[in-house]
Amino acid sequence: MTSNQTGTHGAVLQDTAPEGDGRPIVQLRNAGKAYGNIRALHGVDLAVRPSQVTCVLGDNGAGKSTLIKIISGLHQHTEGEFLVDGEPVRFSTPREALDKGIATVYQDLAGVPLMPVWRNFFLGSEITKGPWPIRRLDIEQMKKTADEELRNMGIVLDDMEQPIGTLSGGQRQCVAIARAVHFGARVLILDEPTAALGVKQSGVVLKYVAAARDRGLGVIFITHNPHHAYMVGDHFSVLRLGTMELSAERSDISLEELTNHMAGGAELAALKHELAQVSGVDVEELPEEKDLTAL
Ligand SMILES: Nc1ncnc2c1ncn2[C@@H]1O[C@H](COP(=O)(O)OP(=O)(O)OP(=O)(O)O)[C@@H](O)[C@H]1O
Ligand SMILES: [Mg+2]
Repeated sequence: MTSNQTGTHGAVLQDTAPEGDGRPIVQLRNAGKAYGNIRALHGVDLAVRPSQVTCVLGDNGAGKSTLIKIISGLHQHTEGEFLVDGEPVRFSTPREALDKGIATVYQDLAGVPLMPVWRNFFLGSEITKGPWPIRRLDIEQMKKTADEELRNMGIVLDDMEQPIGTLSGGQRQCVAIARAVHFGARVLILDEPTAALGVKQSGVVLKYVAAARDRGLGVIFITHNPHHAYMVGDHFSVLRLGTMELSAERSDISLEELTNHMAGGAELAALKHELAQVSGVDVEELPEEKDLTAL
C-alpha cells in the first residue's frame, strides 16, 4: 500500500480538513473478525482516502460483507485496529458510524417502495416548518431539495411524486447515493451495487460512483466483477477465505491481472489437473497453467 497524496484522477482537495491532504478517513490495520470459532476475517489492511474509490473484490464467503459490517458499525472487529481520522474507534451501532460520516448503501436498498422519491430521500430526517404544536412537514422544500440534489449528481427524474418502487434498480441505487451525499457522508460504502443489474444500468451506477468520488467522498465499492471495479477503482483489494490476498494501486495492476486474480489462477490450475484424470474432458482446450499461475 502506498501513501499517494493524489488520486489516479489527479483530484487534490483544497480543504484543510483531514480530507484535504489525502490521509485515510477510514483505516483497518491487521484487522479481523471471529464469529465464535469461525474466523471470517484475518489480518486485513485497508485505507479509504477522500476522492478515491477503494474496490474490495472476492468470491462468495471471502469476507466482503464482514469487512463492511465492521466499518458500518453493525459488527465489531475482534482483532487489530480500526481507525477513523487516525483515531481508534469501535462502533456499537450504525448510527455511530453515520455520525462520523460513514454511510452504507445495502444491496437490498432499504426504503418504502410505495412512497414517493422525495419522501424516501428524507426518510427519518424530514424537514418541518411552523412552531410547535402545529409543526408540519415542509413538503415543497423537501421536493425541491431532493430534486436539486439529484440534479447535482446528474440524475434527472421527471416526477418527484413517483413511488420509489417504480424506479429501476440502477436508479434506486443512484437515489441512495445522492441521499448519502446530501446528508454529509464522507465515506460511502456500496455493497455490490451492480450485482443484479444489466450492462446499461451498471454503467449508470458506475457513473454516480465516479460522481461521488469527484465530490470528495471516499468510496468503498464491493463487487465480484473486476471489469466494473477497474472502470472506477483507484485501489484494489482482493479477499480470499477471509484474508487479503492482494492489495494494489491502480498503477500497479492491469485489468487482466486483476481478472486473473479473481478467477483464482492457482485454483484453476489445480482444477485442470483434477480434470485431466477424468476421461471426456479435453484439458488441452483449457488455458495454459503458466497463464493461470502467472500472478
Ligand atoms: N454471523 C455470522 N456467524 C457465523 N459465521 C458468519 C457470520 N457471518 C459470516 N460468517 C462466515 O464468515 C465468512 C465470510 O462471510 P461474508 O458474508 O463476509 O462473505 P462475503 O464475501 O460477503 O460473501 P458473499 O459474496 O456470498 O456475500 C463465511 O464463511 C461466512 O459463513
Ligand atoms: Mg456478502
